[in-house]
Amino acid sequence: MFVLYTSMDKRDIIIAIDGHSSTGKSTFAKAISKSYGLIYVDTGALYRGVTLVAARNNASNMESRHDIEKLSDILQNVSFEFLKTAPDGSGELHLNGENIEKEIRSLEIAQKVSEVASQPFVRDFVDSILKEYGTKRGVVMDGRDIGTVVFPDADLKIFMTADASIRARRRYNEILAKGGVADYQEVLENVTERDKMDETRETAPLKRAPDAILLDNSNMTQNDQMLWIEKILKEKWGLSPS
Ligand code: DC
Repeated sequence: MFVLYTSMDKRDIIIAIDGHSSTGKSTFAKAISKSYGLIYVDTGALYRGVTLVAARNNASNMESRHDIEKLSDILQNVSFEFLKTAPDGSGELHLNGENIEKEIRSLEIAQKVSEVASQPFVRDFVDSILKEYGTKRGVVMDGRDIGTVVFPDADLKIFMTADASIRARRRYNEILAKGGVADYQEVLENVTERDKMDETRETAPLKRAPDAILLDNSNMTQNDQMLWIEKILKEKWGLSPS
């Protein structure tokens, strides 16, 4: 049972959603933003975008000082922007004006992104973009360190998880549905490997903020999750979908 704290204008709320990979954070965050008229920021897309820049420029070996310096230089001259080009009106990531949304979802990028995202200079780069969004209120952001590092004072923090095998199955089906080719075992390995890297990296590791509400959606549908959050937003702040 939640206490009704105070009423809040939904344009003022900041919702931070963190959690393991392939838990459906971005689908959930997008649905919330649509329902409540909030700005949605997919922070993982930015890390994937930086990884794509690294891959395209042969600078993705983060054990090589040369690659680190090269990527760091290149990042000075790139611009990332979420433009509302998707058929459902949601934002898609553009790199210097080029729509890279599809490319950043490939398995190649998924396999490299954790290593790139663990670099402090990459985190600083992405954080500076996120801080811009922080000046606007009425935001729902999903990632790994939103409730712990980016918005430690977020009004509502959610930590999402689900069984690794269920997450791998969802990702596998998603790739097939998009006409891609995948091997379930390989996808499962990628999911567990990313969990390990995200949780054990030195800079901004994935962890549940003490005040984050746990959402294990192993056995929940998207509709169940919406009902779950609607109840919280109603009980805590008297908010309803627009
Ligand atoms: O949510 P996603 O799978 O698109 O995220 C891609 C990668 O980016 C993931 O391996 C972890 C990293 N990431 C991060 O380190 N911090 C964030 N705030 C968001 C994502």
